[in-house]
Amino acid sequence: MNRLFKPAIKKLDLGQKFIWGVATSAFQIEGGSTADGRGESIWDRFCQVPGNIADGSDGSVACDHYNLWESDLDLIADLGVDAYRFSISWPRVRPLGDGAWNEAGLNFYERLIQGLQDRGIQAHVTLNHWDLPQALQDRGGWESDETCELFVEYALEINRRFGDKLASICTHNEPWVVAVLGHEIGNFAPGIKSRKVAMQVSHNLLKSHGMALAALRQDGCQAELGIVLNMSPIYPATDSADDIAKAKIDDGLIVRWYMDPLINGRYPSDVLEHLGDDSPTFTADEMALIAQPNDFIGVNYYTRNFSSNGNPWDVESTGNLVTDMGWEVYPDGLTELLVRLHSDYRVKKFWVTENGAAFKDELENGFVDDQARVSYIRDHIEATAKARDLGVPVEAYFAWSLFDNFEWASGYEKRFGIYHVDYGTGKRSAKASANWYRDFLGDESQ
Ligand code: FCB
Repeated sequence: MNRLFKPAIKKLDLGQKFIWGVATSAFQIEGGSTADGRGESIWDRFCQVPGNIADGSDGSVACDHYNLWESDLDLIADLGVDAYRFSISWPRVRPLGDGAWNEAGLNFYERLIQGLQDRGIQAHVTLNHWDLPQALQDRGGWESDETCELFVEYALEINRRFGDKLASICTHNEPWVVAVLGHEIGNFAPGIKSRKVAMQVSHNLLKSHGMALAALRQDGCQAELGIVLNMSPIYPATDSADDIAKAKIDDGLIVRWYMDPLINGRYPSDVLEHLGDDSPTFTADEMALIAQPNDFIGVNYYTRNFSSNGNPWDVESTGNLVTDMGWEVYPDGLTELLVRLHSDYRVKKFWVTENGAAFKDELENGFVDDQARVSYIRDHIEATAKARDLGVPVEAYFAWSLFDNFEWASGYEKRFGIYHVDYGTGKRSAKASANWYRDFLGDESQ
């Protein structure tokens, strides 16, 4: 189908079975950080260090979703989405990551998942959206094999309790971020600064993904199983041989380092060579374990990247709109990425598990007229449709995010929500983007 001559993208352009959703994560919205026996997470600890979070904030209250979950589910239902992607806080359900389970914490998710089911909304759960129990960090965190084993116990317990009500279970959200931002650059929790540690962590995350999938399947898990990766097309900033080589390695470190083992059971040899002594330790059996079949691969897409060995890339030079995160708006990159992943890896099914933008919103008379976000979401849905037209099996789109929320090291300064959140009162207000999404999803015409 040639979309050039189509006036506007329609929901049914992506097919009857396409899954439409919104996404959040536990630490970013729940708050209730000490409620009902929740344990400390590495992000609670990280937020305490002055300078780590831009506005000096933390996740102790966030959107207060821990208390407001029921009316929040009504807001989700009101959008007319099929699906909600959220994460479970490991320290809420097992405060020390090991030992006793916290029934009160498990009951919170029981109510949430039941509430979704009552409203006819699919529950898509992520197990690790970065909030590792601090007690496990104290025992070595993702550097340690013990964490991988405890992660499997956690996955099995979630499946035992809720598996029959879950549409999908994702093991890890964006292992690159956990490894590199958390352990190499150190601007995310747990704030470690060692490339060698980061690469071992990336391997352990992949390994624990494979271990969890194998164990869940052995337990008869009915939910679809997969992992979510942050990926972008990466271009050389100039035509110089240096920049071209840098772009290839950067693609290797972000895309191929995860996709190659997940799909083909091996790390890319050029990246191993580039890493040298910083390469992780791994065995052939572990590599085979990582390559479990995935029911889906989740793609989180926000922007494209440029690599240079010389001057840092000037994002303004593209002439495209730049978001409040400093990320270029580039919808074609999503089509390109999906087409490339499909041709290189032949995955069974992709889901766009996150896509959205932070802009400097202005609340006027209780309303945010965020037309830039409307365009962003619409254009990326269109980019997803283009990939489908080109034969890529992409079957879901989740907007990031349902709410303005705790944007990690940026604190509450960056707003990604289609609902505005007043952090003083907790009040949620639909932005123009929420209204647009609701109208878009409600239009069943062809
Ligand atoms: C992704 C994260 C998500 C959110 C968006 C903006 O990297 O998965 O939690 O912070 O970026």
